[in-house]
Amino acid sequence: MANAQQNIIRGLEPAIEIAHLRKAFGSNVVLRDFTLNVNKGETVVVMGRSGIGKTILIKCIIGLIKPDGGTLRVFGKDISKLGHQELDDLRMRIGFVFQSSALYDSMTVRENLEFPLRRNRAKKISGNIEELVREALKNVGLEHAIDLMPLELSGGMRKRIGIARGLIMKPEIVLFDEPTTGLDPITSEEITNLILELQKKYKTTSVIITHDIDLAREAANRVVFLMDGIAYLQGTYEQVMASEDPVIKHFFNRQSIAHGQNT
Ligand SMILES: Nc1ncnc2c1ncn2[C@@H]1O[C@H](COP(=O)(O)OP(=O)(O)OP(=O)(O)O)[C@@H](O)[C@H]1O
Ligand SMILES: [Mg+2]
Repeated sequence: MANAQQNIIRGLEPAIEIAHLRKAFGSNVVLRDFTLNVNKGETVVVMGRSGIGKTILIKCIIGLIKPDGGTLRVFGKDISKLGHQELDDLRMRIGFVFQSSALYDSMTVRENLEFPLRRNRAKKISGNIEELVREALKNVGLEHAIDLMPLELSGGMRKRIGIARGLIMKPEIVLFDEPTTGLDPITSEEITNLILELQKKYKTTSVIITHDIDLAREAANRVVFLMDGIAYLQGTYEQVMASEDPVIKHFFNRQSIAHGQNT
């Protein structure tokens, strides 16, 4: 099943092509020689220890951080060569669900969701803003929260609103930065199911950064383990879990214990 899925995916065009990416902050070399392709419609889960460079990687993909070297193409376009306008156009096709949800505390949920729509109002947006906001909230089961302030939301609700905002432009690529971290197992499972449902509905290409092995198992066509600034290991979830590499084994044993699955 996993192999058949992989073969189908191999026949598709790449959505994201990352080659020899390098990013350092002073002497802290975060990405050294990172290479990865993500095909259209594929879900790649990026795992790795805290502080290893996962968030930096997806910030490079969306052009929020400028790499020091290597190439990064999204839909065939080298993002380092794009002008402001072209980068903006490309960003409209990419949704970003931030690690911290990154909601504006002084705006209601409605205003937070309207924000990307109003910003891009001059561009082609199908449907009216009110309808799009309501649809996005319905997708994450939080229609009733439309007039609440972010500070009135629980952590799980904030994550859902972050996901709703990341998806409101119906992007072709969605980058999720730890969508379930810090949530209880049941809420994590709900968010996992929500991500799977939305992927099925909108057929997005996704990169999901997570420490959550349940989410990785459920969502990943491919798991990439980031270490030492490179894509240290990649394969299906089963292949990565079966790795005999001591570092990988140690990481996944620890993660399983943290998830109460060490049986
Ligand atoms: N703006 C910045 N300036 C300097 N160093 C940074 C900056 N952002 C991140 N770093 C450094 O880059 C490294 C990778 O950070 P990153 O946020 O990508 O880690 P991560 O893998 O996402 O970790 P976590 O799982 O804790 O979220 C860290 O050493 C961090 O200190
Ligand atoms: Mg991070």
